[in-house]
Amino acid sequence: MEREQWASKLGFILAAVGSAVGLGNIWRFSYLAGDSGGAAFLIIYVACILLIGLPVLMAEFSVGRKGQSDAIQSYHNSGAGGFWSLGGFLGVLSAFLILSFYGVIAGWIVYFLYSYLTGAAQSVEEGGVGDFFGGFISGTAGPIFWQFLFMAIVIAIVFFGIKKGIEIANKIFMPLLALILVLLAIYSLTLDGAGEAMNFLFAPDWSAFGNFDVYAAAVGQAFFTLSLGMGAMITYASYLGKEEKLSSAAGTIVTFDTLFAIIAGIVIFPIVFTFGIDPSAGPGLIFVSLPEVFNLMGGAGTFVAILFFFLVAVAALTSAISLLEVNVAFLMRKLKWNRKTATLVAGIVVTLFGVPSALSQGGPVTFTIFDNSFLDAIDLLTAEYTLLLGGMITSLFVGWRWKKIDALRETGFGESIFGILWLWFVRVIAPAWILILLIINFYNDFLA
Ligand code: PFF
Repeated sequence: MEREQWASKLGFILAAVGSAVGLGNIWRFSYLAGDSGGAAFLIIYVACILLIGLPVLMAEFSVGRKGQSDAIQSYHNSGAGGFWSLGGFLGVLSAFLILSFYGVIAGWIVYFLYSYLTGAAQSVEEGGVGDFFGGFISGTAGPIFWQFLFMAIVIAIVFFGIKKGIEIANKIFMPLLALILVLLAIYSLTLDGAGEAMNFLFAPDWSAFGNFDVYAAAVGQAFFTLSLGMGAMITYASYLGKEEKLSSAAGTIVTFDTLFAIIAGIVIFPIVFTFGIDPSAGPGLIFVSLPEVFNLMGGAGTFVAILFFFLVAVAALTSAISLLEVNVAFLMRKLKWNRKTATLVAGIVVTLFGVPSALSQGGPVTFTIFDNSFLDAIDLLTAEYTLLLGGMITSLFVGWRWKKIDALRETGFGESIFGILWLWFVRVIAPAWILILLIINFYNDFLA
């Protein structure tokens, strides 16, 4: 059977942007930036994106396009054996693990969207959103119902394949998301707290640069937000013909993803400062603090809330699609299944594996793993270890195992100054940084 391909390069770019732009840009970015000093975090984060994220993204694209197969086989087809195969294996494993809890959190978002549409969320009394949210996530049927609903939509889109499912969905959703985001940003900039928010986001507190944990958080976030280390970008690039240039595509994706996070900050922080919320409220920032504020804004608040949660839900959808596709591509090749069987089986298994996560936030699943709830444990295992390890192996593989000339040709850089720079980033700088980070994470988690 002939392997599927994107209908156009634009379709590929939008799908890759769709994968990159997700909960990471809005939920994760805003609470990390809020927690780690705003502008200082932003500067370090952008540096990590350019110095580590972009080179590793180019490496992943090269492996996928050269390998023309799923994350694991693409490694083999481009010269991997033994130790190097671990890169593809970790990718498929991470995609599975991440999707299991990503679907849970996306389910919470869809629940909020629904609650604003029905009016239930607006009628929560002032100061009561924490209980409203806590009551919901600690339930049993509720979190599972919304997780299943979200996953069913993901499965339905992947079911239709690369061109008719994934590409079309992204072509419709990505421009829509950009429009909603810009509208919300314009609205936020009219609020009283906008000036303070701009200061927070763009005028750095230099002392934060001395804190190593901020660097660790920024590299982890760079990987997560660009969908690196999970085989997603390898898989997407494998549906690209040999003749397409990779470097410009990677540049476009990084630019859009970063802009999306920064503009999401411009949406969120003016609201935070206008209503005196603590920017370092942590993961609950968009689930508790923001809805409190939407409810204070009256009719406009409901409208803004609906747009906001719709935006986040769709951004999460296009990312979840790419995570499922990593597993589907793997099963189709490995077990010679057709797309429909592979999608149904992978989709159902990963959704079921997410159930303990859905029930671990105050619900019936109470055991902990190293003091973390099931959901947090999977999040930490992937964000702090498997993703980074996968990304490190990819960059070492392309940098050292491939012939230099092949690597430079695949990326389209050739022997230009960019090519040579890129090569040293994937050979030394990115892997060294990642290694340091892995050590810090290990120390913080188990020894400190
Ligand atoms: N990049 C996505 C985000 O920022 O939310 C998350 C993600 C999607 C990670 C797909 C990995 C992936 F393969």
